[in-house]
Amino acid sequence: MTAPNMEELVSLCKRRGFIFQSGEIYGGVRGLYDFGPMGVELKNNLKQAWWAEMVYSRDDVEGLDASILTHPQALYYSGHEDTFTDPLVDCRKCKRRFRADHLSSAKCPNCGSEDLTDPRPFNLMFKTNVGPVEDEDSFAYLRPETAQAIFMNFKNILDTRSKSLPFGIAQIGKAFRNEITPRNFIFRVREFEQMELEFFVEPGTDEDWHRLWVDKRMEWWQSQGIAPNQLERYDVPADEIAHYSKATVDVMYRFPHGLEELEGIANRTDFDLGSHTKQQDTLEINAKVIQNEHSTTKLAIQDQNTKKWIVPYVIEPSAGVDRGVLAILNDAYQIETLDNGKTRTVLSLKPHLAPIKTAVIPLKQNHDGIMSKASALRRQLQKLKFGRVLLETSGNIGKSYRKHDEVGTPFCVTVDFQTLDDETVTIRDRDTMGQDRVNISKLADLLQSRLD
Ligand code: GLY
Repeated sequence: MTAPNMEELVSLCKRRGFIFQSGEIYGGVRGLYDFGPMGVELKNNLKQAWWAEMVYSRDDVEGLDASILTHPQALYYSGHEDTFTDPLVDCRKCKRRFRADHLSSAKCPNCGSEDLTDPRPFNLMFKTNVGPVEDEDSFAYLRPETAQAIFMNFKNILDTRSKSLPFGIAQIGKAFRNEITPRNFIFRVREFEQMELEFFVEPGTDEDWHRLWVDKRMEWWQSQGIAPNQLERYDVPADEIAHYSKATVDVMYRFPHGLEELEGIANRTDFDLGSHTKQQDTLEINAKVIQNEHSTTKLAIQDQNTKKWIVPYVIEPSAGVDRGVLAILNDAYQIETLDNGKTRTVLSLKPHLAPIKTAVIPLKQNHDGIMSKASALRRQLQKLKFGRVLLETSGNIGKSYRKHDEVGTPFCVTVDFQTLDDETVTIRDRDTMGQDRVNISKLADLLQSRLD
């Protein structure tokens, strides 16, 4: 078995309908990708698994789905207007632009010229206008992280769900960053999805919670099928951490292009809630806070015993959905050498992540009896609601098996002539390639138990 390089993954993703370059018919747009029929299922399954873990399995977390267009003042007081920048250098000869911290020498990676500008800060946020008038008063940002909307809704959720500390707010959604040099397929892109939890805790308990969340998140990625030796934790040094963080630990994954961040777990202290709060004398805010005269709200929680207002600290596990998909695909991709010396490509996805849970394959597509039996069986299995069940009619049986190995379908069920006589079908296991003959009446229970 061998792990893929990035070209092999990109090729599989395109060939099998996982991921396409956005705007490809017009030459494509760098840093933008579209998820195809297999990709959208895999991505949705990963998001569902995260939501089940972070919201449904807990008593102390609520969900949120907030707007993408974000009030400019929110991103001013969050510090993003001033500090959410990358260092940009221009090559004066070929006019290409690069991130200064991604250059390995003082030469332009494109043309080799040494005539580069000094680095200057480049803000990564996308700006747009809201409403018909395009002026400086009508602009909004596309959010650079989902987190800010969670902080802005802190009081709404507190008031409607009567929570006490510790508690969390979870959100999955799009975020946008105008990356200077998008690269490495869906790893560094301009439009992407985040799965973020903001977990609010008593100041003073934050470091314990931080450690706990790092451990939990390392374990969770393994439960999604990532091999433990593919993951590492990285204590981000003080000169690399974001402006809002007191300490950040990254879950690093061995991507085809190298060891890089899959998820960051930051101790954001009371920086954000403090920054969005109208400053009041009675409130103790420890972080370096901008004097905010514009917010109308106190983002704090009252201790029921002491009646003292507390600005909670927040621990933030923040994972990239797209990076998660890339990691899962990379870890699941195998080229196996078979006993007959041939090879097969197989995605050994965990069943809950597989885009197609079961493919129903009619042995002969021009035989009415087999086709209608296969069609009815697909509809029957789809009603079990364990995920997508597909009628596979695109090739002969061997090709269909190969195709479903490559998209990670755990089971293929084949309807043949014998089915018409005795109501039995074959069920083929993706990983072992073993086949069993079973009665249709037993199929639902069998698939359900194997998929679980
Ligand atoms: N919310 C953390 C990040 O977007 O990196």
